[in-house]
Amino acid sequence: MFVYHIPTKIYFGENQLNFLSDAVSGFGKKALLVYGGGSIKKNGVYDSILLQMKNSGVQIFELSGIEPNPKVDSVRRGISLCKSEKIDFVIAAGGGSVMDAGKFICAGACAEHDVWEFISSGRPVKKALPLFCVLTVSATGSEMDNTAVLNNPETMEKRALIDDKLFPVASFCDPALTYSVNAYQTACGSADILSHLMEVYFNRNQNLFMLDTQMEGMMRTVVKFAPVAVAEPENYEARANLMWTSTWAINGYIYGCKKNPWSCHAIEHQLSAVYDITHGLGLAIITPRWMEFVLDESNAEKFCRFGKEVFGIESSGHSIQDARRAIDCLKDFFYSKLNLKSTLSEINIDCSHFESMAKNACSPAGYINGWKKLYPDDVVQIYKNCL
Ligand code: NZQ
Ligand code: ZN
Repeated sequence: MFVYHIPTKIYFGENQLNFLSDAVSGFGKKALLVYGGGSIKKNGVYDSILLQMKNSGVQIFELSGIEPNPKVDSVRRGISLCKSEKIDFVIAAGGGSVMDAGKFICAGACAEHDVWEFISSGRPVKKALPLFCVLTVSATGSEMDNTAVLNNPETMEKRALIDDKLFPVASFCDPALTYSVNAYQTACGSADILSHLMEVYFNRNQNLFMLDTQMEGMMRTVVKFAPVAVAEPENYEARANLMWTSTWAINGYIYGCKKNPWSCHAIEHQLSAVYDITHGLGLAIITPRWMEFVLDESNAEKFCRFGKEVFGIESSGHSIQDARRAIDCLKDFFYSKLNLKSTLSEINIDCSHFESMAKNACSPAGYINGWKKLYPDDVVQIYKNCL
């Protein structure tokens, strides 16, 4: 059994951002605009937001410079602004980093304690300011989920906060706004979308056949359209398919009864905590090695089905062999079709932090209770297999 409810309203398609002023109507007259390093100033998003808010009589305050893998200090600056200026709602315009920072700001603005205590002390989110998102890169699905991820460079941690009060009120998803995303970020975003699907697809809990077929369709969509978007950045069909898949890969729809914690994300978040690498790249390096590590006779059939449904591999009658072919297809997709780096050594990561990263990845239970239970020694081995 499960309960499914997403309160986020989606405006999808070209020029849908024009409805922002309608969407925020009634939410107050002071807004904080949160964005990153300036991409929104090149694609018209910034100008459109400012003009619409001006015409609606909404006063805009700005917090720029949110970093990829957002840092807790940037979020603290946003929270101070919200408190000092008595902000009514937040508009986050950018990728997952900006939207996640927006979520933490919305929650932190309504709390007396420091924002990191939501993570370090498990403080509950009692209230959050309303959040509106303008999505500019297809990847994390933050535009329609209840999750936000934050980096704390002091403790070298990257941790997620999950709470239904973090759902955006509305998100604007215009695929044309992702035309300017470069080939590398497009590839990394696509690897992230695929990973969100695989983390749920490879799950020990009972599930609905219908959901497995939905996930296979979404994975095929990424495999078909990510290389197109990389080669033709202004291909609307490719950008639209990636965007809608990114949203649905992680908004809860595909979970059903599958509740096992994710494995590759826990392992990757340690990499982007310690080395500040792009999340999707870390996932592309780790996932095939995780698959090779967990594959055995008891689970090979699911890998075979994955290979058949996502990559069109015909059965040879030998399940372990077919499962390995499926993993090889995934490697080929990441490293040849999307041209992503295939090892940690290539991005200058060595084994010096593997032990502590593995321990953190397995915290607090002491293991990752995923498709196959992983203990810190297992995670160290997976990191080593990525070198
Ligand atoms: O900062 P700007 O100038 O906007 O540039 C960004 C940034 O450099 C650029 N970019 C974004 N839109 C663009 C663009 N460049 C040109 N044209 C555009 N239209 O892309 C770069 C990366 O942006 P970022 O927001 O970091 O990427 P992404 O969306 O992949 O977000 C990654 C973050 O989200 C977290 C990740 O861990 C990472 O911190 N995740 C959040 C999740 C969630 N909320 O549910 C789940 C995910 O698994 C993930 O952990
Ligand atoms: Zn992810």
